[in-house]
Amino acid sequence: MGEKKEYKILFVCLGNICRSPGAEAIMKAWIKKEGKEKEFLIDSAGLYSGHAGALPDERMRRHASRRGYVLDSRARTFNPTADFAEFDMIIGMDDQNIEALKRAAINEEERAKIFKMTDFCRKSTSYSEIPDPYYEGPQGFELVLDLLEDAVAGLYWYCLAHY
Ligand code: 4NP
Repeated sequence: MGEKKEYKILFVCLGNICRSPGAEAIMKAWIKKEGKEKEFLIDSAGLYSGHAGALPDERMRRHASRRGYVLDSRARTFNPTADFAEFDMIIGMDDQNIEALKRAAINEEERAKIFKMTDFCRKSTSYSEIPDPYYEGPQGFELVLDLLEDAVAGLYWYCLAHY
């Protein structure tokens, strides 16, 4: 593993206003805590463009801020050509995201970059998706944050072991 190697990771969900900006903020906080900011490039995007330009959902921001995370990214739409070229790992939140990403990939090299967030969970292993919290109550957002914190820890160690 080269000292200056960058790990380029893109988190993807549907709207880019709840789950993937949460994953982005939690991953960035973890990397900062570990002093590895120079080695990682972290971003997020949505498969649905309806919220492009918006700040993360107010409920998501509130729940995340109680855990010390600041969610201040602006939603953007996933760009298959640019994003498959730029990133090493494209991490979807649920099965629907994974299917859409697989449809957007044009070759095996791009398909190999697709991962599902829950595959990195080490404590909450009974979940196979980060559930969409948009139509849920407060407990839906808390569950998303619990799962994202678990998965980010696993993802960080996966990166160090695999690159
Ligand atoms: P996200 O949540 O994919 O985690 O950002 C959603 C945000 C918006 C919608 C659905 C899910 N929506 O239907 O507008």
